[in-house]
Amino acid sequence: MFAVEPLDATFGAMVHGIELRSLDDETWNALHATWLEHALLIFPGQFLSREEQDSFANRFGALEFKAAPISNLGKNGQVHADPADDVVKALRGNEGWHHDSTYMPLQAKGAVFSAEIVPSAGAATGWADMRAAYDALDEATRDRLAGLTAYHSLFYSQGREGYLPSKRDENGGYAMYGYHDQEPSLRPLVKVHPDTGRPNLLIGRHAYGIVGMDPDESEHLLDELNDWACQAPRVHFHQWEPGEAVVWDNRRLMHRATPFDMREPRRMWHTRIAGEPESELALNHR
Ligand SMILES: [Fe+2]
Repeated sequence: MFAVEPLDATFGAMVHGIELRSLDDETWNALHATWLEHALLIFPGQFLSREEQDSFANRFGALEFKAAPISNLGKNGQVHADPADDVVKALRGNEGWHHDSTYMPLQAKGAVFSAEIVPSAGAATGWADMRAAYDALDEATRDRLAGLTAYHSLFYSQGREGYLPSKRDENGGYAMYGYHDQEPSLRPLVKVHPDTGRPNLLIGRHAYGIVGMDPDESEHLLDELNDWACQAPRVHFHQWEPGEAVVWDNRRLMHRATPFDMREPRRMWHTRIAGEPESELALNHR
């Protein structure tokens, strides 16, 4: 069986001695339990094809979307490096801590992410443990957060940083994933993990407008929580090697990109695992 080497953080492990492209059921069951325990698993030297990555992701549940490039490399081989470029704005937005797809009606369960082209410096991915963050809160803050809900929106998070796309579709909307015309998703600030039964903070850059709170007070509280939660020992930053793959639990962890010189090409592949409607649907989309 595979070997698990825990990271120096409240979560996460390197996994050695496993071939993700050919898992038997016994290995899969053990790996799934390891994933629920550590929330982030890093697998060196996998070099998965897009199809192999999608079938591995599919073991965890239905897919929100299949392997998609997260890249500054254009279709014609040109690199996107201009700060005003919509591709660059989308990538820079990812540098804020977030859970994936909380702005959609159905929050993601997790993601498989792999490295194909890695720049010479920078471009680490960071993760932060929102279960350990909740556990470390003082009693007064836990009481203050209990029962609170916030809206999540990509219009909000990208707009706040000045990263909204320039390009509009024929209806005046943004023709990019996540900019939907449905009501912004309303989610609890503390969410119980459906598999572990443990409470986790559900915050990040997409969250705003805590219900029943003045907008400035809400923004201040969320900024403070995000800053405080994403500190050691609850964070881990991974510097990528080509061929590595990871899978993370988006119900427990936040993550973020970090800067790099965008004149150098970078190409990652992201397969997003859909949440379960019973536990990951927004409160106002049930
Ligand atoms: Fe993300």
